[in-house]
Amino acid sequence: MGSFRGKDILHGNQFSKKDIDALIKTAAGFERDLKRQGSLTLLKGKILATLFFEPSTRTRLSFETAMQRLGGGVVSVASGESSSAAKGESVADSARTVAQYADVIVIRHPRIGSAKEAAEAAPVPVINAGDGAGQHPTQALLDIYTIRKELGSLRNLTVSLVGDLKNGRTVHALTELLSLFQAHLYFVSPGALRMPGEIVSDLKRRGIPVVETEDMMQAASKSDLLYMTRIQKERFTDLSEYEQVKGRYVIDGRFLDRLRKEITILHPLPRVDEIHPEVDSFPGAAYFRQVKNGIYVRMALLAMVLGKK
Ligand code: CP
Repeated sequence: MGSFRGKDILHGNQFSKKDIDALIKTAAGFERDLKRQGSLTLLKGKILATLFFEPSTRTRLSFETAMQRLGGGVVSVASGESSSAAKGESVADSARTVAQYADVIVIRHPRIGSAKEAAEAAPVPVINAGDGAGQHPTQALLDIYTIRKELGSLRNLTVSLVGDLKNGRTVHALTELLSLFQAHLYFVSPGALRMPGEIVSDLKRRGIPVVETEDMMQAASKSDLLYMTRIQKERFTDLSEYEQVKGRYVIDGRFLDRLRKEITILHPLPRVDEIHPEVDSFPGAAYFRQVKNGIYVRMALLAMVLGKK
């Protein structure tokens, strides 16, 4: 498990199967410990800094909860406007500064590559909590943990990733991890929001079966898992283009009736309109269980990069 110690967590492609196994084992241990004890003291005396220059509910609060459940402390910048970034401070200088206060930094920023810049500047581990339309590796790790729990195995699954695959950093990171387990992938999106070509060609080069389609029903009928994503309005420079694609993919009771098979549904959240609330009571609707798993996986990540697991 030593391979996480002192490491930055920046990209879905940095993990091996062995890393994923170690992380799942550690997260499952924390899940058991938390259920028994409520909170732990493993990271007593350690400080986490969360630097969020883009909005977040789940990622920031689950990292902060994870640190506190492990007995550590948290300092936080919840928005760019409340920090010296508003005065023009660079990401690198912010990270170098915050590393004087904290043992580990979690950063979210609207620009691709920003987390890497922070990592190069800071002498403590930096965890990418989303860099624009780039990567969101810790979401992918909690997705993998959830898939393993919900479906019992990670091997040879058929997975449909649906929605804004161009801008969706969660799906960019998740495809990297699914490819380690020989998943068959359906990429379901409007033509304008297809998965970036370099990701598709890299998967194909590595022998991962990939089908790109606009037909969610056809893909879902062949899949074990539907991974829904929001169309990311904030990434559009021309809002008329957003209007053309919004609401394209919606799962509701009628869709599930027509599908006529059991399927597991995940979503990194927040959702807008792509999963109707009537689906929430469906047994395969796992997205709020997925939220809960974020705590255990982020506890594992913090403990591992700090060399305590
Ligand atoms: N899944 C996710 O990244 O959610 P937040 O934007 O609320 O952090």
